[in-house]
Amino acid sequence: MLKLGKTIVTSALPYIYSTPHLGNFVGSVLPADVYANYLRLKGEDVIFICGSDVHGAAIEIQAIKDRTTPKDLAKKMHEDIKALFESYGCNFTYYGSTDSEQNKIETYSIFEALNRNGYIGRVEKQLPYCNHDKMFLADRFIEGKCPVCGYESARGDQCDKCSSLLEPSQLIGPHCTICGKKEITFKKTDNVTIKLDKLQEKLQKFVTAGSKNWSKNAVNEAEKYLKEGLRERDISRHTKWGFPIPLKGFEDQVFYVWFDAPIGYIGITREWDARKAQEYWYGKDTRLIQFMGKDNIIFHTILFPGALLGANLGHVLANTVKAYEFLNWEGKKFSKSRGIGMDLKDALGVVSNPDYWRFSLIFNAPESADSDFTTEGFVEAVNKIMNGKIGNLFQRVFTLIKANEDIFDPSMQPDQGTMDKLSALYNEYLAHFDNIELREALKALVAIADLGNAIMSEKEPWKMAKSAKADKAAAKEFSSIMVALEKISYHTAILLYPFTPSSSIRALEYFGLDRAPSLKDASKVPKLNLKKEIKPLFEKLETSQIKKIGSYS
Ligand code: 2FM
Ligand code: ZN
Repeated sequence: MLKLGKTIVTSALPYIYSTPHLGNFVGSVLPADVYANYLRLKGEDVIFICGSDVHGAAIEIQAIKDRTTPKDLAKKMHEDIKALFESYGCNFTYYGSTDSEQNKIETYSIFEALNRNGYIGRVEKQLPYCNHDKMFLADRFIEGKCPVCGYESARGDQCDKCSSLLEPSQLIGPHCTICGKKEITFKKTDNVTIKLDKLQEKLQKFVTAGSKNWSKNAVNEAEKYLKEGLRERDISRHTKWGFPIPLKGFEDQVFYVWFDAPIGYIGITREWDARKAQEYWYGKDTRLIQFMGKDNIIFHTILFPGALLGANLGHVLANTVKAYEFLNWEGKKFSKSRGIGMDLKDALGVVSNPDYWRFSLIFNAPESADSDFTTEGFVEAVNKIMNGKIGNLFQRVFTLIKANEDIFDPSMQPDQGTMDKLSALYNEYLAHFDNIELREALKALVAIADLGNAIMSEKEPWKMAKSAKADKAAAKEFSSIMVALEKISYHTAILLYPFTPSSSIRALEYFGLDRAPSLKDASKVPKLNLKKEIKPLFEKLETSQIKKIGSYS
């Protein structure tokens, strides 16, 4: 096992205007958490950074509707969502927020360096302004008839019906979606830009060099943008909610949310510990591994690295960009308004053990193609695999050893063939994890439990235990089989840790361990704690729970 230097694992910073749904969770935070746990299991020096992406027009508008300030609304939503992720067992090194003072410092330092180095420009634009609300309207707050297909509710940036990309000025009979009025005029304004065109060569080098470690969708999309030729892109917005642009003449504008959000990874690390942020983000031996949904690829492969390359302050660039496809719910897109799919609160409200969700979501993660959450698949993962294969194996092994403590000899050698199979599956698990194929790593783990269950059915050790009192050979064989099964169970318990940390620790308590495990622990099976009352690790779902989940379709 190659020991590496420091690793920063990041998950895309969730928006806070609604509770994340299960598709959002499996698309970024969950795999990042699982992978960070794996590196901890290996004993690596890893930090896992995430937090709330709080700027942007959506929060500003919501605050107007709720008669509060964006700052207060953001704080409240941030606290709620953070607590929710923690109740799913997510083990962040730090979960911060992009509106922190630390992120402001970091954003300004990068912007000022970009400006010094000649990568900041200006552009004149005609922007829609609502005379009633007295504000410029972000793309999503102006709607009108699509000039291409005639759809009545096309947005300022795109028509949802025919997918045409639009400019707000192309909409026919536009209205403001905040007040509903048609009192819109177009006003000339100056905007600040980042000259991505001048960063084309540097970004091409970055993408080419890094892409062997990236997911295919990330490589393809980044290459597509590069091929089209990068263009100057505006990074200022005419609103109040955000960091004011520190440039003369632009003080009444704020940074575009996608400018300060990814810088938030650094800002949030600073919020955690300014000295350590320095060590991790400027370290020569740091690997930056970024998890996200596929809709975030361009920002992480072009805009964010572009800003860092242009600023040239020595920040670490992504070593791995791992972009997930989308999860659908019973074949449809998640939609709160149409009641399709569960959000993180709904899900825990029906099935309160987060490990069931963590396990089943990774088991069916949209790792290389879109995948579908089905109630049937969830029931199968929990009832047949978690309970039927894994929980059942622990239960049978612990119970059999406890009931036959007097004849069990833990010093007996297990069958070599079985041990070879175990070690092959163990290596498969590690190899998949090292390639960030979490779904496959989990399948290797299930195969380890399968190995134990197959031995149990084939050898029927309880029969040997019966004759063991009178038959020395049977006693030996019983012990040899149980030593193998004990070892298989112990490995299963340890390797569960990244996926279902609290269940892993509960299973390891039978082995006398009461802390997070490490791979080093796997080399020697500790003595079983036979005094502990044996309880099932997992339980089957109840019919009422299954029905309730089915009602979210
Ligand atoms: O798609 C999203 O949820 C964005 N809030 C992700 C931001 S990632 C990072 F760059 F902040
Ligand atoms: Zn209006």
